[in-house]
Amino acid sequence: MKRITFAFITLMATCLTSCDDGLIYPETVQSTEGKTVKVEGVINGYDSWSSNYRLSLAGFENTDDEYATITKTISSSDIVDGKLSIELSGLGGEISIVRFCILDRLRRHIITFKEADITGAADIVTIDVNNMDVSMFNTIQQSFLSTTCANCHGASNRIAAGLDLTEGKAYQAMVGIDSKKVDGKKIVAPNDARNSVLHMVLNQESVEGIGMNHFDLVSEKNAQSILPLIDSWINNGAQKE
Ligand code: HEC
Repeated sequence: MKRITFAFITLMATCLTSCDDGLIYPETVQSTEGKTVKVEGVINGYDSWSSNYRLSLAGFENTDDEYATITKTISSSDIVDGKLSIELSGLGGEISIVRFCILDRLRRHIITFKEADITGAADIVTIDVNNMDVSMFNTIQQSFLSTTCANCHGASNRIAAGLDLTEGKAYQAMVGIDSKKVDGKKIVAPNDARNSVLHMVLNQESVEGIGMNHFDLVSEKNAQSILPLIDSWINNGAQKE
């Protein structure tokens, strides 16, 4: 009987989150069964996300699942004076991991800021996110530029093409800055990803004027998640935070 109730609640939750924008779900499912995960803390940069993405609290059945099983989308009303406070409840035994993360519109997982393994955890689990910068650009910096690019661009003893892509430097080095290699183009031209050299080097196997293949540096996984995210960031004005 318990199982059936669980399945029903999950089904309801799945339906409610997928049938609308995910904004009304938790209030309508007042489950006393299952676990609850809370996320609390002061966050920055929520407003910088373009409409293709959702800052979310999401439950996954397996750690490598591409799509979330149950989600709550964070809306501006969940953030008061910069402080975020939300919860996702009614989590059944099939959910093993809950992530404070970015999902795309189809609930595909893009990037995790923080996660909790809830198998064997208490009924209520709190994820502390204090002072977290969740802005679109910082996400790109942390999950991609610092890890995949900075080694040649500023983190070691060389700054390839004079382009410093380390944290705190990359934004100023790219946004609105003329390319040294490709005539008449900016490295990042706000609102115009296709004409930005950053987009070109990552999406084309060869770019006229650039003697180094960057295309092959991008893993398949990043090609699906980070490259569309970078384009969306540029086309949404290439905001700093
Ligand atoms: C193995 C070293 C190396 C890595 C790693 C690397 N780059 Fe480069 N990058 C270069 C070199 C060398 C050039 C200059 C090529 C030339 O002179 O033609 C360059 C040029 C560029 C340019 C053109 C700059 C301009 O003025 O137009 C951009 C944009 C760029 N890189 C972005 C990136 C990004 C984003 C990453 C991470 C995915 C990255 N690079 C990773 C070596 C690297």
